[in-house]
Amino acid sequence: MIIREEQESDHSAIAKVTAQAFAGVEHSDQTEPEIIARLRTAGALTISLVAIKGNTFVGHVAFSPITIDGADKSWFGLGPVSVSPDHQQLGIGSALIRTGLERLCSQGAAGCVVLGDPAYYCRFGFERDEGLRFYAAPSEYFMRLNFAAEVPRGRVDYAPAFAG
Ligand SMILES: CC(C)(COP(=O)(O)OP(=O)(O)OC[C@H]1O[C@@H](n2cnc3c(N)ncnc32)[C@H](O)[C@@H]1OP(=O)(O)O)[C@@H](O)C(=O)NCCC(=O)NCCS
Repeated sequence: MIIREEQESDHSAIAKVTAQAFAGVEHSDQTEPEIIARLRTAGALTISLVAIKGNTFVGHVAFSPITIDGADKSWFGLGPVSVSPDHQQLGIGSALIRTGLERLCSQGAAGCVVLGDPAYYCRFGFERDEGLRFYAAPSEYFMRLNFAAEVPRGRVDYAPAFAG
């Protein structure tokens, strides 16, 4: 399996794998392919990695800037992350996330947040932090991973592309 940055010719395959992965997911309104497209248009797709097995696109992960109390603190949000249904549980999502986090860190990011199942994301080092507040979801699903020693406190907002 290869993990690499997206290329222009990958856009439709990314939308397809994302739609397939989120189809039927309870907490999703199935707008994830549009969110990725809007992030790209806005220049807010900081990291966009694809996973390819043979000639098949099997996964994708996006990272975009967040603000904390309205300010850019070099923190980022993980997601959406998708693995095609027939390739899940094979470690592809983990490989995409780990590669993305390594790249974020090496690019000088101070940290990353994620909204998702703690049982999955704690394995990457994400943890809850009452000091970082996200109001659009129950706090137990919101986690952070800091690369810099100092962790800011405040209200987290994702890029406008997430709002539609
Ligand atoms: C979430 C997702 C990206 C994980 O990718 P994956 O390649 O299947 O995951 P991996 O093979 O790396 O990891 C598998 C492990 O994660 C667990 N896991 C996978 N999805 C999970 C989820 N949504 N919640 C909790 N645990 C999950 C599995 O139980 C397995 O655990 P184990 O290692 O203890 O057996 C993939 O399942 C997916 O695309 N889901 C649909 C879209 C989605 O929900 N995206 C995340 C939104 S927050």
